[in-house]
This record gives sequence, structure tokens and C-alpha cells, in this order.
Amino acid sequence: MALCSLRFLTLLLLFSAVPIGIIVTLERAEPATHVYHYQSSGWFRECSKWDSGHRRFLISLFEGGLAQAKVPENDPHPSSPLEEVTVVKEPHLAGNASLGIAIDHPRNRVLVVNADVIGNRYGALAAYDLSTWNRLFLTQLTGPSDEKSFADDVAVDAEGNAYVTDVRGSKIWKVGVEGKLLSIIRNPLFTPKEWYKNLVGLNGIVYHPDGFLIVIHTFSGNLLKIDLTKGEEVKAIKVKGGTLCFGDGLELLSPTKLVVAGNPSARLVESSDGWNTGSVVGTFLGPMHRLATAATVKDGKVYLNHMVGMGYPKKKHAIVEAVF
Ligand SMILES: *[C@@H]1O[C@H](CO)[C@@H](O)[C@H](O)[C@H]1NC(C)=O
Repeated sequence: MALCSLRFLTLLLLFSAVPIGIIVTLERAEPATHVYHYQSSGWFRECSKWDSGHRRFLISLFEGGLAQAKVPENDPHPSSPLEEVTVVKEPHLAGNASLGIAIDHPRNRVLVVNADVIGNRYGALAAYDLSTWNRLFLTQLTGPSDEKSFADDVAVDAEGNAYVTDVRGSKIWKVGVEGKLLSIIRNPLFTPKEWYKNLVGLNGIVYHPDGFLIVIHTFSGNLLKIDLTKGEEVKAIKVKGGTLCFGDGLELLSPTKLVVAGNPSARLVESSDGWNTGSVVGTFLGPMHRLATAATVKDGKVYLNHMVGMGYPKKKHAIVEAVF
């Protein structure tokens, strides 16, 4: 998911209130799990996803664009940092951030959400070929004359339709396989009654192979199921065993296990009834000062993207294995 106002506030708090010494201590602490570091040109990275077919992480650039960080085949846990190499830059979108990404493996392409983070006046979904980086489509979702919105994260269904969450307006844009904006999904369950809970709304989203979407509403922690086989019927998933408040990016570890990145770094939710109900069965605490924003699965293991890079002149980012 994205850098929402919460993140800005959190970042401000971190950089103004937390003594640098504490961050240095946290940075120097020996990580408890495996970490992929990569050298980067930017401070903020909202999302990274493992592209198994090409043995690389795909990384969305907060300053706009897409990069890759390759993991050497003969050295799967290299001791030196990976290198972030920009593969897509759209001059037309300058000023917008690139946020959520989803890899559409059957079609060998990646979908990338772009948004005007500050003004909330523009949002678009782009698709690129994973072998050539040719742009397949660039679809505007919202513009200056529409209600303010913040396109944030994306999931893709079996037919190649994409679903993009609006974290500000709590709605979902549906974009067809060829890039046509098909509809906007709205539902009263997307908007909790308390106004302040809607400051950061619909965020991480995944497609489940049984034909439904799971989406999280960040400030309420509500987890919702949108059944595409039943005319986009929306139901709240009853979650026991803990709250999912501040949940951000989502990823399915298996059809019955969902990873919720955010704060704390990640929670694991399990369901045994097709996601009518679920239970929080595990929590992982990683480098909290770097802010976990997205999860991905690499060779059966969960890795967390972190928003904030550290170091000078090259910033070092961390993709951290989460063990529950
Ligand atoms: C985002 O891109 C659109 C499309 O080119 C552009 O009109 C808009 O000004 C950009 N937003 C910002 C904040 O620069």
C-alpha cells in the first residue's frame, strides 16, 4: 500500500521525535531473520514484489517509476547489497509517486499504481511487459475534476482484471485486461461510521484463487471479502485473536493464510472457512523504524518491504524475512 497521511505523520514523528541514537541502535542490531538489502537512489519505496520467473524483486519508486533488484542465481543470500536498477520511467507522470504493484504471472506483466500523493488530484494504473518493459496500457483512474482520491494498491484476478484501492475515498476502480476502466465498486462497508477512521481507508488488496478479493481498511482494521462470483458482494470477515488496525499491504501465503504488513511489521491471519472468518495466529516485529508497507512471498517465505531507506549518499533499503 501507500504512503498515506498516516505515514507522513509517522515519518514526521520518527524524524523529529525519535532520537537519532535510537535509530542508530535499531540499525546496528543484528537482524533476527534474513534480510535483502539493496542500494537505492531514493528514500522511500512503497512496494516490492518477488518476480520468481526472473529471480528479482520489482520495486516501485516513490519518485515515480519501477526498478528491479536481481538476486544472483549462484548466490541466493549475497552478503553485499543488491543493486536497484530503474527499468521504467514515465516522463508523462512526473510529480506522481508509484505505489502498489501486482505481478500478473500468466500474462507476463506487472501492474503499477501511480498517484498524486500530496494533492490527491490524479491516479492511474499502468501495465508493462516483464520481458521488454514495453508499456501495455496507461489508464487514468481519476483527475482534477473528480473527487479527491489516492490510488494505492492493486490486485489482479484470473481473467486479468485489475482492482485498485482508493485509500482516501474508500472505493475500488475495476480495470479490464486491456486497460479499460470498467466500473467503480462502492459499498457502505468500505466506510466506517467514525469519521477519523476514514482518514486512511481501503488499502492492501489481494485476489484469492477461489474468486474473491480480500481488502483491508487501514484505520479501522476491517478486513473485507468481495465475492466476484456473486456480483461483487461485500462482506466483513470476522477476525478473532487480535486487531488488524494499521494494516497496509496484503499477500496470500497460501489459500488459508494471509499476511498483513503494517504496524506491527506483520500479522499472519488464518481462515478455515473460505474467509468468512479468520484468526490472527502470529505477529512479527522487524525494523519498525523503517515502516513495513508491503509483503511478498519468495520460495515459500514471507518478505516485507520497508518504506524508509537509510544511509548516504546511497540509501540502503531492507526487504526483511518475516517469521511467525
Ligand atoms: C501526475 O501526472 C498527471 C498526468 O500527466 C499530471 O497531469 C499531474 O500534474 C501529475 N501530478 C503531479 C502532482 O505532478
